[in-house]
Amino acid sequence: MPKQGTAKVAIIGAGYVGSTTAFSLLFSGVVGEIVLVDINRAKAQGEAMDLSHAATLIRPLKILSGEPRDCAGADILIFTAGANQRPGESRLDLVHRNARLVQEALPEFIHYCPDALILMVTNPVDILTYVAWKVSHLPPSRVLGSGTVLDSARFRHLLSLQVGVDPRNIHAYVIGEHGDTEVPVFSLANIAGIWLDEFPLTKGTVDRDLFKADISHQVREAAYEIIQRKGFTSYGVALALTRITEAILRDERRVLTISSVIHDLYDINYEVALSLPCVIGREGRISVLPLPLAPGEKLALHRSAETLREVIETLKI
Ligand code: 2OP
Repeated sequence: MPKQGTAKVAIIGAGYVGSTTAFSLLFSGVVGEIVLVDINRAKAQGEAMDLSHAATLIRPLKILSGEPRDCAGADILIFTAGANQRPGESRLDLVHRNARLVQEALPEFIHYCPDALILMVTNPVDILTYVAWKVSHLPPSRVLGSGTVLDSARFRHLLSLQVGVDPRNIHAYVIGEHGDTEVPVFSLANIAGIWLDEFPLTKGTVDRDLFKADISHQVREAAYEIIQRKGFTSYGVALALTRITEAILRDERRVLTISSVIHDLYDINYEVALSLPCVIGREGRISVLPLPLAPGEKLALHRSAETLREVIETLKI
């Protein structure tokens, strides 16, 4: 494990997500070197120059732009390149364009960084995590996706507004697809150890079913609402990536709902990549936690897994 603050992170794709993630990592204290790679070399170079100036005001950091070979020795490869959703487009609509890009581009980076953990971000992230796993021939524990880490944060944010408690005191997970079939796990959500169902709702409706339907809708629609207004999302996913990177490089054993390939868990008896609460440390995914889901939540998780499996089968990989 690299000494604290000396790790090398390569970010593939210097668009909104890649460059914002690099900016966020400046403040994390866990990286010592960032390499930005983009098909638009001038863009990557401009971002690296700008970030280098910013780093001067924080702490010494090496920030470069370059080619796959310049990523040699990276501890983590963060893959953000690819097409983004246009307003009204679902994440799954991007699958054929972005799956081809991962299959074509990722092997060269892995060639130069054989020991790196892979962190997929490009959507549809669960499916592309599966594609990256296939392409990399690495164990599932070393091929992660940002998954529903951001959705779980959105879920906690919305619950926080409802109950009037700091979201850091709220445990609540979204699992399954990072997308339209995702599953907010209300049955296990708790505020400072008090089950959500027993916690007084201070604002809006006190009809619990209406409340859950409204929160579920807002979590699922969050990205669409943002994309409709600003054209893309960046800050939330960049901080989710930074938290995952910190958990890895500090060997935190933090629980995060990252996406990874599972088989024979939650009675899902086929290989699929989807988001579940995992213990994350230096080796990547240390374990997948077995949530005691309510029957309806388990059914919804299976539906989500089936949706992902059907799309994966169309890729014929
Ligand atoms: C998000 O959820 C678009 O997947 C991205 O912000």
